Parts: sequence; structure tokens; C-alpha cells
Amino acid sequence: MATPETRNRGVAAPSRRLEAIPPYMFAELERRISDKRAAGIDVISLGIGDPDEPTYPHIVKAMQEAVAENANQKYPTNRGREEFREAFADFYDHRFGVEIDPDSEVMPAIGAKECIYNLCFAFLDPEDVALASDPGYPVYTAGPTLAGARAELLPLVPDYGFAPDLSAVPADAANHARLMFINYPNNPTGATVPDGFFELVVSFAREHEILVVHDNAYSETTYDGYVAPSFLAVPGAKEVGVEVFSLSKGFNMTGWRCAAILGNPDAIQTYWRLKTNVDSGLFEAVQLAGAAALRGPRGPVERMNETYTRRRDLVVAALRDIGVQVEPPKGTIYIWAPVPEGHTSTSFAELVLEEAAVVVSPGSMYGPSGEGFFRIALTAPDERIEEAVERMREHLS
Ligand SMILES: Cc1ncc(COP(=O)(O)O)c(C=O)c1O
Repeated sequence: MATPETRNRGVAAPSRRLEAIPPYMFAELERRISDKRAAGIDVISLGIGDPDEPTYPHIVKAMQEAVAENANQKYPTNRGREEFREAFADFYDHRFGVEIDPDSEVMPAIGAKECIYNLCFAFLDPEDVALASDPGYPVYTAGPTLAGARAELLPLVPDYGFAPDLSAVPADAANHARLMFINYPNNPTGATVPDGFFELVVSFAREHEILVVHDNAYSETTYDGYVAPSFLAVPGAKEVGVEVFSLSKGFNMTGWRCAAILGNPDAIQTYWRLKTNVDSGLFEAVQLAGAAALRGPRGPVERMNETYTRRRDLVVAALRDIGVQVEPPKGTIYIWAPVPEGHTSTSFAELVLEEAAVVVSPGSMYGPSGEGFFRIALTAPDERIEEAVERMREHLS
């Protein structure tokens, strides 16, 4: 029965768990953006990381064919189509040198966000902890909170190449931790995994019996010859971890909701058990299109990465010209830069919006350790990026 407090909160009152998610800090920034647009100002958004270019043609074609087939229009199974699981196993073999059993070590997910959120419900009880990179993708903290558990933030230390100091994790948090979320190449910092870090994670996870979740959203989006590894390539990783591989960014498929979880078969079985209670799997036509993406030519991915490299270099040069010292990232679609002296993340984002009509994301949006930084997404057409950097040079120098 509802308690007296819940009785008096109205029919639309959110649950306490939902209320515990921090309020949306950037409502004010968004209000200003829409006011400016309403006033006819041409605002350039470099806020959201949603690829501007279309999904590659061979993937769209595979989807068009698959969607027309009656057999693909039914309820999928959560286990996924054999074609999808085999395409992933082959891709992991030739791309990462990782052996995946297509029957037990891979399953579709309806995007990485769904997967990470549901892993919290599959593995966390109220007294449990999830260790979450800070700054990090927001679902690493919202998922545990909504599951009634707690997120312990692992600050990413700039001097450690934006990796957390595992020896600094409080003993109580390490002992109550059941999950650990890490992500390289990293959103929002653009960092690639420091040498030896994945190995440290494996031994930490073994010692504390923690399931590692490596969010591999950006491995295909890298520059300057850098090739991002899979966490699962590290010896022992499969014993303690899973990797969530999303097709959203590398294949320009954010709207398609196509990802997979790979690695520890028992953990995947537990995720499957949760999902059979929650959703009905990934649309089979999307699975077949995903398989076409993984098996398809590399040319479009390489050309996309050349485009991002060009945009990255434009932004880095402009930031340096206005006195912001920043290193070009080797991966992801983001530039992570320190705010100038005297500014907070939010005050600088507001200044850039006011003076240059350009939207950048305040670093604090991604966790307390993001304070003092801002993020620029490279997902606007070249000419818009050129215009944005010109305006920043003109108004912020
Ligand atoms: C680190 C990270 N993980 C996951 C996602 C979301 O992936 P998906 O579109 O597969 O849900 C994003 C999107 O920005 C991300 O940056």
C-alpha cells in the first residue's frame, strides 16, 4: 500500500529512485539555445555526438531487403539470429584477434545504453555498488541508481591518461562492487586506453569478484594510425568481463539501436534472463543490417575517420589560437579541453554560446571530475565546423 508520503505527491509523482537521478543541469543552457534560435540567431551545435553523415549504403540496402521479408517481421528471440552472432564472432576474430563462441558468447542488445542499463538490473541488489568512470557516459550512474543500488565514482586522472587509480578505490566500495564500467576510446575525454590498464582491471576484478563491463562504443573511430583494442583481447578478460560493442558511432547507426554484448557466457546468460522479462529482442531486420555492417567493406569507415581527422585538426588549431591548450585525440568523435582560467565548465559553455552562438558541452555534465573541461563533438558538417571555429577565433581570442 502507498505510504502517506507517496499518497500526497500526486498521481504523476516519480519514484524515489527516479527522483534520485540528479536534475538535468543544463536545462538553462538549452533554454538559451532555443531562445537564440527563436530570435533568428544561427546557433551551431557541437554538443551532441550524433554522426551527421548517413549510414553506409550497403547497410541501408541490407536493411531494405530484410525489412521486406515477412519472416523478419516477427518477434525476435533475445538470443539473436545466427547470422548476427556469427558476423560478430568473425568480426571479433579478424578485427581484434578475439575468439568468440557464436552460441554462448554473444547476444544482441538494443543499443549499448539498453544493455548497460539492464546489466544493472541483472546484477545489482540494493546494497551493491557499481564502479563508474567519472567523467563518464551518464547511464553508468543512472543505471545503478534506478536499480536501487549505488554508483561509486572512479575519477579519471589526467596524469594517468584519463584512467582511474584502482589503488584509490575505497575498500568498502571495492568489497560491495559487483559491476565496473569502463570505456576506451573514452567519452567524453577522447582518451585511448593507457598501456597495461586493461590488465590491471582484470586483476582488480579477479581480486574483488567484480564483473567488468567494457563499453566499446568508439573502437572503430580512431585516427593517426591508432587501432583500438578490445578489452576481451587481454588474457583472463573473458573470465571477469563482458564488452558491449555498439554500431552507433563507427557505422553512423545511432538511430538503429544495434549493439551486442560479448564475452563471459555466464554473465550473458544472466543478462538474457533479465531481458526475457523486459523486452522482446532486437528487430531481426536490424540484426541482418548489423551483420552486413560488420561484414561490409572498411572503406566507408576509413573515409569517415579521415573526415573526423580533418574536423579534429580544424578545432584543435582554433582552440590553440584562442589560448586553449589541447592535444588532438586519437579516437572518438570528441575534443576534451580545459576551460580558460576564471571559468567553470558551465560559465564557459554559456560564454561560447553568447559570444559565438556555438554550443559546447560543459564537462561537469559527465560527472564531478569533468568540471574544468568542455567537450566539442565533431559531428557537424565540415562547413559548420569551419564556421564555428571562425566564430570562436573572432569572438573569444
Ligand atoms: C560511451 C558511450 N557508450 C554508449 C553510448 C550509446 O550507444 P548506443 O547508441 O549503442 O546506445 C554512447 C553514446 O554517446 C557513448 O558515448
